[in-house]
Amino acid sequence: MDSLIAQAVQRLEASDVVAIPTETVYGLAARIDLPVALKKIFAVKERPFFDPLIVHVASIAQARTLVKSWPRAADLLARKFWPGPLTLVLPKNPSVDPLITSGMDSVGLRCPKHTMALELIREAGPLAAPSANRFGRTSPSKAEHVRAEFPNSDFMILDGGPCEVGIESTVVKLTEAPDGIKIAILRPGAVVRSQLEAALKTEAVPFVFEESVSKSESPGQMKHHYMPEVPLLWAEGKWSDKEALDALKARLDSLPDEVEGVKIRKPSAAVTRVARLNLSKDPRQAARELYDSLRRNAESGAEVLVFEHDPSQTGENWEPVLERLRKASTLVLDTKHTPS
Ligand code: TXA
Ligand code: MG
Repeated sequence: MDSLIAQAVQRLEASDVVAIPTETVYGLAARIDLPVALKKIFAVKERPFFDPLIVHVASIAQARTLVKSWPRAADLLARKFWPGPLTLVLPKNPSVDPLITSGMDSVGLRCPKHTMALELIREAGPLAAPSANRFGRTSPSKAEHVRAEFPNSDFMILDGGPCEVGIESTVVKLTEAPDGIKIAILRPGAVVRSQLEAALKTEAVPFVFEESVSKSESPGQMKHHYMPEVPLLWAEGKWSDKEALDALKARLDSLPDEVEGVKIRKPSAAVTRVARLNLSKDPRQAARELYDSLRRNAESGAEVLVFEHDPSQTGENWEPVLERLRKASTLVLDTKHTPS
């Protein structure tokens, strides 16, 4: 065994948390059978207990030990997309600690596509891991992002290089029903709906998509999330720096300080320095660069970041990136407010 992996196994065994690389984002991992370690995840991240954790497994066989039943649709999707950026939410086995599932009767499972993560899970057992960022803030897609996020913590960080996908997994809830499987996409990600549909059709598994779920079924989906250190403005269409700043200043007083426990980043009324978030035209590349780009722009000395949403950035491959940006934004400037 690699000596760094061996060290990580020991740390986990000693009820410590360890930051691990995955293909989506870095995770802050703990052993699922050690409540002290699980509690550390929440403490380090300042994460509320109502937000459930994803359990990372190394195989389908391991996943099956954590659920009540393993429907055909789950098997098919896992065989098709694992290891990879797809989390399956299924009714949990009673042995799964309620700390992981926020007391709900379902558990999120994912097999990550990263050799270091897989090797670690094979040695240490299944690992609960949220993204390795402070609650509500920008997720880490490089080891150095984790270090920057927690300057005062001394947990081990396994450096596995930049994340290939760059944004969090697609979270899909599966519910067995008499006429087939009900599928709800709780969080968009790199595995998109048309791919899920195509996979299920290949083996004629009956399914129906649920277009919306209640807040109680997806408690981790906050209105604001992924927020960078410096406020981000989502601009619909073309806005000059001056137009964006004027619109922002006009609405500064009406911005809340906090939404659903996430502090809203606000610039001072004297804000002048603007940076533009330029993303690749390719949505996969844009996803890969997104969090690093948000962080670098926030560190550039700018007081506010502007993302101009271009009408060409649309469709199911853009949706996961746009969802992150919408939630990361302090304010949306839409065309109605465009000054002449
Ligand atoms: O790509 C990813 O999924 C990354 C890497 C580290 O694997 N992990 C990640 O974890 O993004 P986190 O905690 O930042 O987001 C997990 C989200 C929760 O906020 C929640 O919305 C959803 O997954 N989730 C987990 N378990 C669930 C459950 N039992 N029911 C409903 N939603 C659940
Ligand atoms: Mg997260």
